[in-house]
Amino acid sequence: MTSTKKTAGTRHKADKYTEFVSRGFGKDVAKRLGLPQPAILRRYEPNAPLVGGPILVLGNGAGSDAVAKVLLGWHQDVRRHATPKEKLGAVVVVLDELEHPEQLANPLLALGASLRDVSKNARVVSISRPAAASDKPAVAAARNGVDGFIRSLAKELRSGATANGILLANGIPASSPSAMASLRFLLSGRSAFIDGQFLTASSAGSTAEPDWNKPLDGSIAVVTGAARGIGAAIARTLARDGATVIAVDVPAAGDHLAAVANEIHGTALQLDITNPEAGSRILEHAISRHGRLDILVHNAGITRDKLLANMDNARWDPVIAVNIASQLRMNEAFLASPGLGENPRIISVASTSGIAGNRGQTNYAASKAGVMGMVRSTAPLLAERGGTVNAVAPGFIETDMTATIPFATREVARRLNSLQQGGRPGDVAEAIAFFAQPAAAGVTANVLRVCGQNLVGQ
Ligand code: NAI
Repeated sequence: MTSTKKTAGTRHKADKYTEFVSRGFGKDVAKRLGLPQPAILRRYEPNAPLVGGPILVLGNGAGSDAVAKVLLGWHQDVRRHATPKEKLGAVVVVLDELEHPEQLANPLLALGASLRDVSKNARVVSISRPAAASDKPAVAAARNGVDGFIRSLAKELRSGATANGILLANGIPASSPSAMASLRFLLSGRSAFIDGQFLTASSAGSTAEPDWNKPLDGSIAVVTGAARGIGAAIARTLARDGATVIAVDVPAAGDHLAAVANEIHGTALQLDITNPEAGSRILEHAISRHGRLDILVHNAGITRDKLLANMDNARWDPVIAVNIASQLRMNEAFLASPGLGENPRIISVASTSGIAGNRGQTNYAASKAGVMGMVRSTAPLLAERGGTVNAVAPGFIETDMTATIPFATREVARRLNSLQQGGRPGDVAEAIAFFAQPAAAGVTANVLRVCGQNLVGQ
């Protein structure tokens, strides 16, 4: 166990090593011994600047001009050319018109030259189009090239800086609202533990001017597994962003659940989500107290690890029941209900284990990969109602669940990513809050990894 005291909805477990090597004697020791030196990440704080300095926008087409204009509208300090020695907060490279891999050199080498001048915790964000089988081979090669480029650059950046990308589907413009909402999220401290990843903007999204400080104002949200860990952080983050939150957890976690719900002025609902009536119980609670339900966060999850050779139904069945079967059943109930608000949002918590696989977790990985399959095939059903469904796949996050991993394994797991540290429950929560925002209306069927670019998997 880590040394942090266990309280209701524990905020985050301490990573003492990162604190130790971030200053003074610890910093010197780590440097001399060549030990990992994880940076203290820049995380979201209300009223803090979006980025830590001017934003350089690279790219020659109309798309880059339009993106620069949006950034100016957000009162950002925008540069179209690097000024030597000026510290940059972010570099945005707009590549929406690529037709051949030979066109990558100019913008990407200009980006490379600017990296000497980026500040700590800087952001690099590309805006491009996904390669499709129907593209001409040279177009597909150029577009796919951006993928390999961003994932490699993310591994080169240091001091908490990250590189991520936005993919513009269906010919939507680079400056479309859903792409700009994604850009704002990736530039901000909300995306601190997201590295080497892509968000797909599948349609242009809403043109209504968002309230960036209280994006969820007036929304009614439910979060399962909200008594502690990631679920408690999701509940707090949604409430911070303006939502009224219904916190759900098993009766055995009732005290912690009540504490979280009280803290955020939400309501608590004691419920085992494997109950066949769970969907209707949640709807009943939401509609009777708040009139409707807008945002559903499927967070509750369990592990029952064992090598497959020793696996039995006692370990397999509950994992499938809690992690995926309950979500399928609840979604059916939600989608059949007239009580679901306009433009509903469903966001599921998956896991990098479901992408890369993990020894001893065949049951868990099957359930979490199942969540990702469910999300992709539920997207068209939600689209019919103006809604979206997405998943967030956390890597190593400092919670009660990971605190039970033996020390040596835990220390390796926590450092094996580009940011050399575990994430915090709040990092997962920020990604979920982003998908829930009205401004993310055109962002659906994504599986976003919040893993600091964990070295296993894609
Ligand atoms: P946790 O074990 O700290 O919290 C899970 C919560 O879900 C608990 O409060 C528990 O009572 C509740 N819960 C379990 N079964 C339930 C049921 N049948 N009905 C209602 N509530 C139930 O776990 P943690 O770490 O906060 O994980 C949250 C989610 O994130 C899970 O889906 C987990 O699989 C996923 N995840 C966690 C990672 C990590 O590093 N901690 C990594 C990847 C994914």
